[in-house]
Amino acid sequence: MTSLTTSHAADLVAALLFILSLAGLSQHRTSRAGVVYGIAGMALALTATVVLAAQSITAGAVTLVVLAMALGAALGLWRARRVEMTQMPELIAVLHSFVGLAAVLVGWNSYLEVEAHGAAQTAVGADLLGIHHAEVVIGVFIGAVTFTGSVVAFLKLSARIRSRPLTLPGKNALNLGALGGFVALTVWFTISPDLSLMIAVTALALVLGWHLVASIGGGDMPVVVSMLNSYSGWAAAAAGFLLDNNLLIVTGALVGSSGAYLSYIMCKAMNRSFLSVIAGGFGIEAPSGSGDEQGEHREIRAAEAAEALAQARSVVITPGYGMAVAQAQHPVAELTRRLRERGVEVRFGIHPVAGRLPGHMNVLLAEAKVPYDIVLEMDEINDDFAATSVVLVIGANDTVNPAAMDDPASPIAGMPVLRVWEAEQVIVFKRSMASGYAGVQNPLFFRENSSMLFGDAKQSMEDILTALGTDGRTAPTPATRQATTAGR
Ligand code: TAP
Repeated sequence: MTSLTTSHAADLVAALLFILSLAGLSQHRTSRAGVVYGIAGMALALTATVVLAAQSITAGAVTLVVLAMALGAALGLWRARRVEMTQMPELIAVLHSFVGLAAVLVGWNSYLEVEAHGAAQTAVGADLLGIHHAEVVIGVFIGAVTFTGSVVAFLKLSARIRSRPLTLPGKNALNLGALGGFVALTVWFTISPDLSLMIAVTALALVLGWHLVASIGGGDMPVVVSMLNSYSGWAAAAAGFLLDNNLLIVTGALVGSSGAYLSYIMCKAMNRSFLSVIAGGFGIEAPSGSGDEQGEHREIRAAEAAEALAQARSVVITPGYGMAVAQAQHPVAELTRRLRERGVEVRFGIHPVAGRLPGHMNVLLAEAKVPYDIVLEMDEINDDFAATSVVLVIGANDTVNPAAMDDPASPIAGMPVLRVWEAEQVIVFKRSMASGYAGVQNPLFFRENSSMLFGDAKQSMEDILTALGTDGRTAPTPATRQATTAGR
């Protein structure tokens, strides 16, 4: 009795720590404290669960649980130390798939236990059998949708499969049919809990999870990741009901609701319908935008780019995923410093989904010590491009694609973008004419005022710094040297 009360008290403290953790993580300043609260809450929750379980299971089983926890902790630490920041979303997708799979296994275990021993012999009790059956089906359904949805998200984010949306004929009817089938199977299973129905629900949910995420285009993946985060929370809450674990219910509900709210905020930022995205792109027609080239592009060399920068009044830098891949933030910060010393106004324009995780660019720029006050959000900078001399698009593509505004048939139509093409001159740093994450060609590259600076963004930046010279004035390029000699 005492240990049960102690365990409930530990659950309550852990739940409070999780709430403090979420509050801390909502701001840069308090995010470290947020992480510490989260770790403390999880350590307390695990200890309390194992200590309580140790009283009702054999010493051998306790040893197995502790061994499993040690193995999981070692694997988690190893992966967390090695993962690149650009790989974080795919790691998160894999972790969500584990939560989904765990919920499916808990549901199946609970079903088989009651089938084998009868409700009266288990914690369920005969009175609550109908509710228990419904809990099992709902838990397995949410878990299986989360599992395959997260696996597809992982495959898309890690570029193992194409990020373009799958558009099966009648995809909306398929999704709605699957949901209707789930409701019917749940009612049927509650009345007659047959093994074949359990298999049918699991298979249906696995296919639905796959189809829901496969139907969503690359540009909307940030919303999908936070949506799966939410699903994994509800899957954990469902498992909490089956395991009679209050803390799992509370934690799952916290993750589920905060993930849903984050998805909603991201949908607003991306001008997407929340309901359409969670329904696997419901109402979105098959995109007709292609990855084909759309005309002639111009190339520029680093020395010419340095020349343009040296003469600019104002410069805006719009970084994207390519800056993270190239790890170009340090030379970018150095260029900023030198241009500012020379009196050029330099600012950064950050798109809400630039890179591969929320705040990705802000973290990289902060790491390179770029002053906060010149790093502006998309809405703060968008009206200033028309008065900007030079825009440097460093490894960004989808987030600066004018097709989002001009082409209603584009898969990224309606997504707000940085209107970089309004500046006098745009220099795009990338390695090739390849499309961005959404798999859509970018008409920006073919505009009159755009030029491509091909190569790894870090190398190109270093070449510009060399050409620019240490005091921010351009070292003479072969062309300027020739002109100077001719003029003498
Ligand atoms: P992207 O559209 O992904 O384009 C990045 C560009 O960087 C590519 O076109 C690539 O072209 C270039 N690049 C890659 N490595 C490079 C290197 N070493 N040097 C120079 N360039 C390099 O980038 P974005 O504009 O940041 O857009 C982000 C996209 O990811 C959006 O579609 C967004 O929806 C999606 N997404 C975002 C998130 C979050 S939360 N931020 C999460 C998941 C998905 P080359 O190959 O030709 O070099």
